[in-house]
Amino acid sequence: MRILSGIQPSGTIHIGNYFGMIKKMVESQNDGDLFAFIASYHALTSVKDKEILEKNIFEAVVNFLALGMDPEKSTFWVQSDVKEVLELYWILSNHTSMGLLERAHSYKDKTAKGIQANHGLFSYPVLMAADILLYDSNIVPVGKDQIQHVEMTRDIATSFNNVYGDILVMPEAKVDEVVATVPGTDGAKMSKSYGNTIDMFGTKKGVKKQVMSIVTDSKELDEAKDYTTCNVYKLCELFMSEDELKQLQQRYATPGEGYGHFKLSLLEKINEHFEPFTEKRDYLLNHPAEVKEILDFGAKKARKVASAKMEVIRAAIGL
Ligand code: ADP
Ligand code: TRP
Repeated sequence: MRILSGIQPSGTIHIGNYFGMIKKMVESQNDGDLFAFIASYHALTSVKDKEILEKNIFEAVVNFLALGMDPEKSTFWVQSDVKEVLELYWILSNHTSMGLLERAHSYKDKTAKGIQANHGLFSYPVLMAADILLYDSNIVPVGKDQIQHVEMTRDIATSFNNVYGDILVMPEAKVDEVVATVPGTDGAKMSKSYGNTIDMFGTKKGVKKQVMSIVTDSKELDEAKDYTTCNVYKLCELFMSEDELKQLQQRYATPGEGYGHFKLSLLEKINEHFEPFTEKRDYLLNHPAEVKEILDFGAKKARKVASAKMEVIRAAIGL
């Protein structure tokens, strides 16, 4: 079973990204044949600065490798290193009705927000269909906002197969309903755009500042505290064992400690949890030649599958 995952390269990542997406993706390497790529072409729809794009792609690659993406076990590459996807994108464009694209929620949402519409943004779902269909993907794990794109991929594949025969594999979206939303420092969903994140690879000082800024009620040291409604406790749940949580509950119930103490316990656990990843990440950041080698290896593996598929497709359509 082939699982395919595409990730937009977006600068810094926070612990919400990690628990909501990255960790699961890394674990899915045990569930099947994982194909995962950094969606560099898709990023062009929003990033139009050379340095920022290069930096974001490099950092996304390094982050995924540091967090457990195994380039031997899985196929991990940068989308724009395998250009066959653009050929398929054009071919599929001829099986994509205008109406289908006009109905895309993400396009409608973006233009409604005032983002200038261009052809890249409009045809984004066709490129996504090419990503999925080029690699004969069976399962595409996505967030709720991307389900429609996978459905559009199925429509496009059906319309192609109706003309040329059973050539494209029908993919299925896998939506994880149980993804718990990681709360931010203010208790709302942690998100870059809300400025309430705890960064995964921030400086020690920066992360401490973020943890210390978690919003709590104003109970005094000598009062018992309610862990069930506490943002600090909710974040501790991500990092602590059952036993550690029991002990923490005890500390909440016993007067004498303040939220500052609980925050320091949380900070310690966060640092402990990400320490091994940080080491690997720092190493990779300082060895870009090694990162390039890993990516060349991944692109080669992906290209092998892509070019074989394109041969079949070209033959079928008369090119
Ligand atoms: P942000 O909201 O910070 O812009 P993105 O939209 O780039 O994050 O999300 C990237 C991935 O991380 C998505 O798969 C998303 O579901 C996941 N994610 C982001 N924030 C959270 C959160 N607070 N809790 C759980 N998952 C999250
Ligand atoms: N559009 C996806 C997102 O924003 C990224 C993506 C591009 C993707 N191509 C894909 C996801 C193919 C899954 C399959 O998250």
